[in-house]
Amino acid sequence: MEFRYIRVERNESIAIVTIDRPQALNALNTAVLVEIGTAMKELALYDDVRAIILTGAGDKAFVAGADIGEMANLTPVRAREFALTGQGVMNAIEDLPKPVIAAISGYALGGGCELAMACDIRIASDKAKLGQPEVGLGVCPGFGGTQRLPRLVGKGMAKKLIFTGEIIDAATAQQIGLVDMVVPHAELMAKAKELAMTIAQRAPFAVSQSKVAINRGTETDLATGLALEAECFAQTFSTEDQKEGMRAFLEKKKSVQFKGK
Ligand code: CAA
Repeated sequence: MEFRYIRVERNESIAIVTIDRPQALNALNTAVLVEIGTAMKELALYDDVRAIILTGAGDKAFVAGADIGEMANLTPVRAREFALTGQGVMNAIEDLPKPVIAAISGYALGGGCELAMACDIRIASDKAKLGQPEVGLGVCPGFGGTQRLPRLVGKGMAKKLIFTGEIIDAATAQQIGLVDMVVPHAELMAKAKELAMTIAQRAPFAVSQSKVAINRGTETDLATGLALEAECFAQTFSTEDQKEGMRAFLEKKKSVQFKGK
């Protein structure tokens, strides 16, 4: 895959998407957003890609936000389009039938924090800094921050972060549930790959059904969520991997190679 602002590497059963615009701290302009969306949709088509890591180039930033230069002179109509473009990419990541891990090396601010929140799991370097500083620019979050942040950390904490624009460190982000793991800076990519490889060894359809059940099920009432879970569970019984996984257990085999079928 050839892109201008991102790099895509495929390595064994994982793919790494790196936003590569370090001179602007990987800020998200429309072109970057379109490229991320395109790469994710293409990667979804590769059966051998079983987990994706999304990260930012350079040591300083995951993504320092939506591109302020591009936003500065938008009309309300264009601003809505920009928000919808960003939200569309975040939604595509959330709906991707493969797990996506955000590896956050530095600043994840505004649109960068929103991008990380659309991923399934967030691993942060101990040097990472996260926040939604939009109100300091005279705008509110526009790529999903007002919706995904309260879902992750609760309404009160989300309001505190969004109303103040406070930027928090990785340890605080983990304490409030905004990131799931904090690791020493130098180990970030190794730990992200280790996690991706572990997930990649599991049955892919079972992982993607779990993602659907968690993402969709937690956005509805418990009874509907449980009905959805039962349906997702049932569908995994259509796979060779379910037969193989359970046979291996019953035959006391130490390991099982899932085929993704
Ligand atoms: N958009 C465009 N360019 C950006 C950017 C952004 N969000 N963030 C950083 N840059 C650019 C800077 O303009 C600078 O470019 P030049 O070298 O050409 O001047 C370059 O990246 C390096 O940045 P700094 O010199 O500012 O680096 P620093 O170490 O002094 O500060 C920082 C780092 C604290 C992250 C600071 O860059 C900053 O505050 N960035 C903006 C963060 C922000 O407000 N993000 C939210 C954007 S709004 C949003 O995202 C809306 C939404 O929800 C859709």
